[in-house]
Amino acid sequence: DAPDRAGMIARMNWETLEATVARCCACPLYQTRTQTVFGVGDRHAEWLFVGEAPGAEEDKRGEPFVGRAGKLLDAMLQAVDLKRGDNVYIANVLKSRPPNNRDPLGYEVQQCEPYLKRQVALIKPRIIVALGRFAVQSLLHATTSLGQLRGRPHTYEGIPLIVTYHPAYLLRSPLDKRKALEDLRLAQRVFA
Ligand code: URA
Repeated sequence: DAPDRAGMIARMNWETLEATVARCCACPLYQTRTQTVFGVGDRHAEWLFVGEAPGAEEDKRGEPFVGRAGKLLDAMLQAVDLKRGDNVYIANVLKSRPPNNRDPLGYEVQQCEPYLKRQVALIKPRIIVALGRFAVQSLLHATTSLGQLRGRPHTYEGIPLIVTYHPAYLLRSPLDKRKALEDLRLAQRVFA
């Protein structure tokens, strides 16, 4: 049952975790995905970025943030002298794509949560950047709006966590890019 599943995941090593995610059927999304998207980057990275869920491109390629939002995420990383794969790990709350990129459902987030939690425990990042409201909700269990959570450090399992806008949101609301840059600079200061 549920506590047993979470407990088992909490003891997995990286390889077992990755294999378990790849064949996960814990929510109905396994029926519509092409493949799971575990994450990408240096598994001992000091920086962890957490997005929402794979989109169409990610579902096809098996890698997070490879579509349009991913291009913007790469630019955001570059703005604070970071690079994908270089001391950076990128993961999502959901490992499977919701059909038509609809919002994740509560049950899906709940079923996927132990995976992200274990990824964090194994990566042991020095800082986490939560991209958008689903990452914030999943990691902080906060229902407060993202706007109210920005601008100050939070913690997840004792690790400093900074909240910022999701790159897909920033593509629609480019005026908020300036605030996202402020958030990343705050993350840099917290990290330093
Ligand atoms: N949006 C996300 O949240 N994650 C991805 O991997 C791609 C787009």
